[in-house]
Amino acid sequence: MSDDKVTVLDIRQAKKDGRKLVMVTAYDYPFGLMADEAGVDIVLVGDSLGMVVMGLDGTVEVNMEHMIHHIKAVVRGCKGPLIIGDMPFMSYNTSIREAIINAGRLMKEGGCDVVKLEGGIDFASTIEAIVKAGIPVQGHIGLTPQTASALGGFKMQGKDAKAAKRIIDDAKALEDAGVFSMILEAVPAPLGKLVAEAVSVPVIGIGAGVDVDGQVLVTHDMIGLFDKFVPKFVKQYTKIRPTILSALKAYKNDVMSATFPGPEHSFKMSNEALEQLRKLIKS
Ligand code: KIV
Repeated sequence: MSDDKVTVLDIRQAKKDGRKLVMVTAYDYPFGLMADEAGVDIVLVGDSLGMVVMGLDGTVEVNMEHMIHHIKAVVRGCKGPLIIGDMPFMSYNTSIREAIINAGRLMKEGGCDVVKLEGGIDFASTIEAIVKAGIPVQGHIGLTPQTASALGGFKMQGKDAKAAKRIIDDAKALEDAGVFSMILEAVPAPLGKLVAEAVSVPVIGIGAGVDVDGQVLVTHDMIGLFDKFVPKFVKQYTKIRPTILSALKAYKNDVMSATFPGPEHSFKMSNEALEQLRKLIKS
């Protein structure tokens, strides 16, 4: 667990020092605690919770109330890392005023340190306004899950030179707008390197190769808790689902066969108290 709270200045400095940044997602108190104990730099309360926690098909249905609820839980357990609240779809897309209000709500009501939103050049003025309002922003370009349907699905982005150049332009626009860092999702590894070289703020990759300034993964993917589908860029460090499942099945068997609870899980009563109780019942 970190002794000091990670700040946006530490995140910016990491790139200058050539130190890779470590970022994971968390959606509740126990995972907030563990991410803190593991000593990661950044914890994202991502709208990926729509899929891995709420069982939705995507992130579009996630709203401000869902985000605030989960951010609060993570914040209670996670004290060292910088905590990012993800702005849900349509919380920043309709007007700059709405975007500032909602970014402020994630911080004031949720308690996160900074916010993240998806989009490139088209969202530069929104980002600039949120930053001017005093709220640090992390950008998110490449594959942007909230608008995956407009991008043709959950597909790699920046395949040809023209599309790749647009992503580099997006990164530059985000830097000019004042982001302290940005996520780059699902692009060819050589493009990841070029984007990281094109901007002075840290570029944190998810499916963007190794030559970026840090990595982020959805924790539930990385530990094999959510395995409905596993994107190519995910490394599963463990497969926790079968372990949990076998514990649930063992519990079910124990209950059905009356082998749980055993004496060690049961409260005792003195023989004297029990005898008195029997008499009371009879009287
Ligand atoms: O919502 C999320 O978890 C994200 C990550 C994929 C970066 O945006």
